[in-house]
Amino acid sequence: MNPTEGTPLLRACGLKKSFGQVEALREGNLIVNRGEVVAIVGDNGAGKSTFISCIAGALRPDAGEVFLNGNPLELGSIHAAMRAGIATVYQDLAMAPELSVAENIFLSTELRRRGIAGRLGLVDQKAMRARAAALMDELGITTLADVSAVAGSLSGGQRQVVAVARAVSRAGQLIILDEPTAALGARQSQIVLDTIHTMRERGLGVVLISHDLPRVLEVADRIVVMRFGRVVAEVAPRGQTVRHIVSLMLGEESAAKESAAS
Ligand SMILES: Nc1ncnc2c1ncn2[C@@H]1O[C@H](COP(=O)(O)OP(=O)(O)OP(=O)(O)O)[C@@H](O)[C@H]1O
Ligand SMILES: [Mg+2]
Repeated sequence: MNPTEGTPLLRACGLKKSFGQVEALREGNLIVNRGEVVAIVGDNGAGKSTFISCIAGALRPDAGEVFLNGNPLELGSIHAAMRAGIATVYQDLAMAPELSVAENIFLSTELRRRGIAGRLGLVDQKAMRARAAALMDELGITTLADVSAVAGSLSGGQRQVVAVARAVSRAGQLIILDEPTAALGARQSQIVLDTIHTMRERGLGVVLISHDLPRVLEVADRIVVMRFGRVVAEVAPRGQTVRHIVSLMLGEESAAKESAAS
């Protein structure tokens, strides 16, 4: 029997993170199974990015634990999360502007030149460019003609596409996408959604943060709603309406119940 059978791919429990007086994340709990797309929705400032940054190692939570395949993840370390197979597209799309698209995609996983040059740590630029171009091709990305262009010269949407490609090339277990389609037009958004489907089919877990609720209803297997730093609801998309999700995000339902009770 597979020892990880029955264990969720990702389990985050009781994550908390404050910035000074601001309790950005009061209670972060999340389960993601293999081959599952879990969307996190919530109003601006609800704590979504803080939550995923704690899982991805970009922030060290003040409390809580994260398990991947049942194994505790070292917290506060992007490298530990990456080594464990978690790849993340951050909302701010952090990229090295002076490096090329190809270098950004393979940064820190650079293809080393074989032989002595490889041992000296030289990067095989040609192989890297070819792999980057092949990856773009595989993802159906055609807006970017030249993978040797520096990242600083890209448009917002092009940068977003590169960030998604980079995460796809790295994700072994879990891919986390924080607003991956915010700057994208209809066609590029569809490419990202198709990519999410492909990741799911490959058995990866996907965490998607998006304000595009109709799309979320379309693509997610489960929707987690955050409000004021807490996970307050979890719903299946089937039969849900955008209006209901919005009311959960804004806490209108509990407010209505409270006023009905008083
Ligand atoms: N580095 C930081 N320093 C101080 N406060 C922060 C920091 N990062 C986030 N916050 C605060 O924490 C709260 C949650 O922010 P977060 O970015 O997690 O929200 P979000 O749900 O991702 O919002 P959005 O939908 O706008 O991206 C906000 O009040 C924000 O101002
Ligand atoms: Mg955010």
